[in-house]
Amino acid sequence: SQSKLTDRFGRTVNYVRLSVTDRCDFRCVYCMAEEMTFLPRQQVLTLEEIARVAKTFVSLGTEKIRLTGGEPLVRKDILELVREIGTYGLRDFAMTTNGSQLPTMAEPLHKAGLKRLNISLDSLDPEKFANITRTGKLSRVLDGIDAAKEAGFKGIKLNTVVMKGGNDHEVPDLIEFARRKNVDITFIEEMPLGEISEHDRGQSLCSSDEVRSIIRRHHELNPTPEDSGGPARYYRMPDSTIKVGFISPHSHNFCSTCNRVRVTVEGRLLLCLGNEHSVDLRRVLRGHPVTDDKLRQTIIDSMDLKPERHHFSSNGDVQILRFMNMTGG
Ligand code: GTP
Ligand code: 5AD
Ligand code: SF4
Repeated sequence: SQSKLTDRFGRTVNYVRLSVTDRCDFRCVYCMAEEMTFLPRQQVLTLEEIARVAKTFVSLGTEKIRLTGGEPLVRKDILELVREIGTYGLRDFAMTTNGSQLPTMAEPLHKAGLKRLNISLDSLDPEKFANITRTGKLSRVLDGIDAAKEAGFKGIKLNTVVMKGGNDHEVPDLIEFARRKNVDITFIEEMPLGEISEHDRGQSLCSSDEVRSIIRRHHELNPTPEDSGGPARYYRMPDSTIKVGFISPHSHNFCSTCNRVRVTVEGRLLLCLGNEHSVDLRRVLRGHPVTDDKLRQTIIDSMDLKPERHHFSSNGDVQILRFMNMTGG
């Protein structure tokens, strides 16, 4: 179906990222402060409300939905939502997860109709992994990756945020791991969302150019024209079928082809990850009377607010106070 959502810069929106919870069982250093408070229940959309938002977007031509968090798998009854959205006939239906619940959840998720998984993995060293995630256990996530493969998921992708002096020395190991497991891997430049005093972003930023040159010490790495329509640029190695992606908000601006919007678990429709422009869908969802037309029109009108681009700076300065767990990336 043709998307009915276009913005002032001629971009078509056909991809929606729905955050289903702000909670997470990890506390990754670049995502959350050590002490976080989470949203009270009444501010959080119910699963029915989230499904209604999803269905409305689909009626407006959305072809791809990704569930994010926090950690989407800590939301109670998440499988019901996956099952519901699974009936909408989407071209792509994916989830971004930290992987910790996948040992038990991978198979039910696959059966419920989820098509693709992106799994965060920043380190293969148990101690380092524990330092970066603060509360995570590496072996759970590795078991989770295996469980996802066994459950039959195709197109599994690992996400690695690269930090200088943190995990940059593990890039070659992570590449070997991805090759061995036959899963794609994307290296991400850290974005400055949320003030995190314990973590100096300016210090740790590692550019995609640097990551590519690390990889090239071991492997030939050739750019491909492949394009997910997203921020990642992909490369391939001659002796492997996996794709190696790079998301480089600092060194390569991808905003001109942006095709996505986000909905936070409070029902805030965010027009850009790197800006605060938003529309309150919860107010519409909980207004009287709620009509599908009102919801549709609110979403259509919101497109005028979509900004041209983000303005992340590479010195780690925070312009966006909202933490990453509010939007799921
Ligand atoms: P694919 O569907 O596999 O292409 O996934 P994706 O890369 O769009 O999603 P994922 O949830 O795996 O996100 C990986 C990284 O990309 C995260 O760090 C996100 O914050 C970042 N990202 C995704 N979309 C955008 C965007 O529109 N702008 C910016 N700045 N970053 C984004
Ligand atoms: N910058 C870049 N990526 C981030 N992620 C979380 N916080 C940040 C940040 N500040 C990543 C996670 C996950 C994806 C959804 O976003 O590691 O893979
Ligand atoms: Fe949780 Fe993902 Fe944030 Fe880590 S990056 S704390 S796994 S939401």
